[in-house]
Amino acid sequence: MASSLWSSLLPTAIFLLMQTLPKASSVCSDCFIQSRAAYYPNSNEKGTEIGACGFGSFGATLNGGDVSAASDLYRNGVGCGACYQVRCTNSAYCSSKGVNVVITDQGSSARTDFILSKRAFSKMAQTANAAASLLSLGIVDIEYRRVSCSYPNKNITIKIDENSNFPHYLAFVIRYQQGMKDITAVQLCETQNFVCKLLDRHYGAVWTTTTPPSGPLQVKMLFSGDDGDETWLVPVNNIPEGWKAGETYDSGVQVNI
Ligand SMILES: *[C@@H]1O[C@H](CO)[C@@H](O)[C@H](O)[C@H]1NC(C)=O
Repeated sequence: MASSLWSSLLPTAIFLLMQTLPKASSVCSDCFIQSRAAYYPNSNEKGTEIGACGFGSFGATLNGGDVSAASDLYRNGVGCGACYQVRCTNSAYCSSKGVNVVITDQGSSARTDFILSKRAFSKMAQTANAAASLLSLGIVDIEYRRVSCSYPNKNITIKIDENSNFPHYLAFVIRYQQGMKDITAVQLCETQNFVCKLLDRHYGAVWTTTTPPSGPLQVKMLFSGDDGDETWLVPVNNIPEGWKAGETYDSGVQVNI
């Protein structure tokens, strides 16, 4: 009787343990988490141009092409643009530094947390020969941690999506967000009377609204940290009145938090 009670409780206990693990890891912010990584099967060295973050061709070459698809770390698009240090753990092949990648896509393969660009995957190796060995393995054990994104000499920019249609439908992607916080909400504010509209995350890093406010527009971004800290960033520059699909506008601000 007792033993059957124990065996019915055991799965629950393991489940609860797994539930509490992510919390423990966020307290230990410098700790590496064990996982596995693969690489994009096509021979393309860089990232994908059709990633689930909506970065388009920009996403393929962002960070020099050191980019990755994420599995759970995609977090319904919140994880798009987040940076991770990923290093493989086979000491015969792998460097201790590994590679820093930016999330630009969603995907998983055989219990991986990352599908790296081929270039990023190779960068985890100590030498070119070791890289060839890693590539031939296909999937390797890794450990990873969140790190700050860094884009020297770049402000945060707003890229108006090609599918936007002035003045009825506005879609855009926020580029070059530094630091290690998430953008969890975006407001579009009129600069005349400061009426603001909360935008929808369409998918990935793409924010949209039908019937955008008129005149020059201020894009306010809510930065949220692991520690629960939340800060609205107010840009210096506005999206000009008469914004155009395909254009990129400089916010005039950058973060390093
Ligand atoms: C960033 O914005 C500031 C204005 O806030 C501007 O002076 C600077 O030139 C911008 N930097 C780049 C790299 O565009």
